[in-house]
Amino acid sequence: MNIYFTCNGKQISLDVDPGIRVLDLLRDVLNLYGTKEGCGRGECGACTILMDGKAVNACLMYASKLDGREVLTIEGIEGEDGALHPVQESFLEEGAIQCGFCTPGMVLSTKALLDELPEPDTKEIEEALSGNMCRCTGYAKIIKAVEKSAERLQEKS
Ligand code: FES
Ligand code: FES
Repeated sequence: MNIYFTCNGKQISLDVDPGIRVLDLLRDVLNLYGTKEGCGRGECGACTILMDGKAVNACLMYASKLDGREVLTIEGIEGEDGALHPVQESFLEEGAIQCGFCTPGMVLSTKALLDELPEPDTKEIEEALSGNMCRCTGYAKIIKAVEKSAERLQEKS
């Protein structure tokens, strides 16, 4: 089937097998390797992307669902003048990244949270990131990075 969608601000029209997973379409067709495959069954959040601003698991979704949607992957997130996005800066500064495998998903889930709830409390942060697993950091630094992201974005607004 032919699908038409926006990915990272670019309009894309593709003839695809509607049964291909969005994760495979992003990585194997569009060469967007920042979206990772961990579990492949909706449990780890490594494949998180934003669809119409909501965090979703690309491993659980078929390409046919992309039609007419707006997708943001980690490659499309940036701050002013192409610099790092404030969420990315905060993750770096707080040392919330070790191997980095979970980081694209964490950053995108954080963006989705803060777009909707600019001043979340710790419980709301934990809830928003509950679908994103990290095997390295122990989460404390990630929570701190989300808090710092919220502060930065508030300063900019
Ligand atoms: S790879 Fe999609 S949730 Fe784990
Ligand atoms: S930094 Fe390694 S999985 Fe999170």
